[in-house]
Amino acid sequence: MTEPQSTSSFGYSAAANRTHRQPISEMMVLALQNPSLVSLAAGLVDYDSLPTQAVRTLADSILSDTDHARAALQYGTTEGYKSLRHELLEHFCRLDETDHAGLGADIDNIVVTSGSQELLYLITQTLIDPGDIVITGYPSYFVYTGTLASAGATVRCCEMDENGVIPESLDALMTELAAAGEIDRLKAIYLVTYHQNPSSITLAEERKPQILEIIEAHQPAVPHKILLMEDAAYRELSYDASAPFSFRKFDTTDRVAMLQTFSKPLAPGLKLGYGLLPKDLAEQVILQKGNIDFGTCNLAQHITAEALASGIYAKHVAKVRAAYGEKCQVMLDALDAELGEFRPDETTWTRPDGGMYVWLTLPEDIDTGPDSVLCAAALKHGMIYVPGEFCFPNDPGRVKPKSKIRLTFGLASKEQIREGIRRLAVAIKEVNG
Ligand SMILES: Cc1ncc(COP(=O)(O)O)c(C=O)c1O
Repeated sequence: MTEPQSTSSFGYSAAANRTHRQPISEMMVLALQNPSLVSLAAGLVDYDSLPTQAVRTLADSILSDTDHARAALQYGTTEGYKSLRHELLEHFCRLDETDHAGLGADIDNIVVTSGSQELLYLITQTLIDPGDIVITGYPSYFVYTGTLASAGATVRCCEMDENGVIPESLDALMTELAAAGEIDRLKAIYLVTYHQNPSSITLAEERKPQILEIIEAHQPAVPHKILLMEDAAYRELSYDASAPFSFRKFDTTDRVAMLQTFSKPLAPGLKLGYGLLPKDLAEQVILQKGNIDFGTCNLAQHITAEALASGIYAKHVAKVRAAYGEKCQVMLDALDAELGEFRPDETTWTRPDGGMYVWLTLPEDIDTGPDSVLCAAALKHGMIYVPGEFCFPNDPGRVKPKSKIRLTFGLASKEQIREGIRRLAVAIKEVNG
């Protein structure tokens, strides 16, 4: 009989070993432990505009009707509550000013998930084997690039300018992959197209058909269909309510998956995400979802379906947009006042027209990383930010820019925004030479 081996560790899977703590979680812990710290880091939403009264009214109306209450408190289906999926299909049509045929979709294309993060995860589980390639913008949404790293994907990035991902850069990258004999591992292109987290940049509408054409041109070299994942988490948060049409509107080959969420425009506590996916992908995603939770919180789905059908959602989104528009202006004014004269040729920031983030670029000699002198000084003066380097995926062959900062005005009050920027400016000036 062999002696049992003494080991200190369980037999973790390769995926577990590839998974690391999200870097931002350390910062969340810091902010929670120290209430006097102003956090312009975590992407939480505005407290004051959370729809407390509306959700209470909707929940009351559902729960006071016995049949409706029982349906909402029972298990639902894996793909999501049918009435909600109908509402969502109409919602997608409204946003793109088209009809079902225009989107090439019916209710079977619609999937409801526990936040859009779950949908990102499910699509990744469905498509990605270790070594497969996913192309993203540079920078990109860092929680998802962490998911890709866990899955063993190789992330390659294309350049962005103030209008989003540059089509020529995507073309050049795909050409490079083809020349290196690697394009057959390319599974998906992932783009955050509206008020991007972290840069707040929106992809210009005229680039969308160009990008689809580029993918089409490279498609013959790839043995499977290349998926275009459009993460439109901030689509409804343009301050003036206008937004480009989605990729799906220009998609003639059924390769676009549209992902949206109620977390930012309604309430993250409902944790509802949704997608319009090519049908065969939707079927595969639903199979994966069956392994994970076989259905998203049914009560949250009933509440949200009522919010959409009654018009409460549309009214609420208008309120949220206005709230973020005001807070954004407060942050921009504070940056102008505190950093407007600080090495002005090398210090710039984006001026968002929607969403929750400002992307600050400091002079190249100022390192903003988590172990930098600046990060420590900001903490000492009582504020935290997200170091920009977290937002740049590990693309082999690229050196991450070191002098960027993601700032968010989502959660902080106007007073806290002003104070947070003042503290940041004090720290920046202190470490500058
Ligand atoms: C770009 C982007 N996509 C997806 C998500 C996931 O959000 P949720 O899972 O709450 O829908 C977030 C959250 O911040 C995000 O910024």
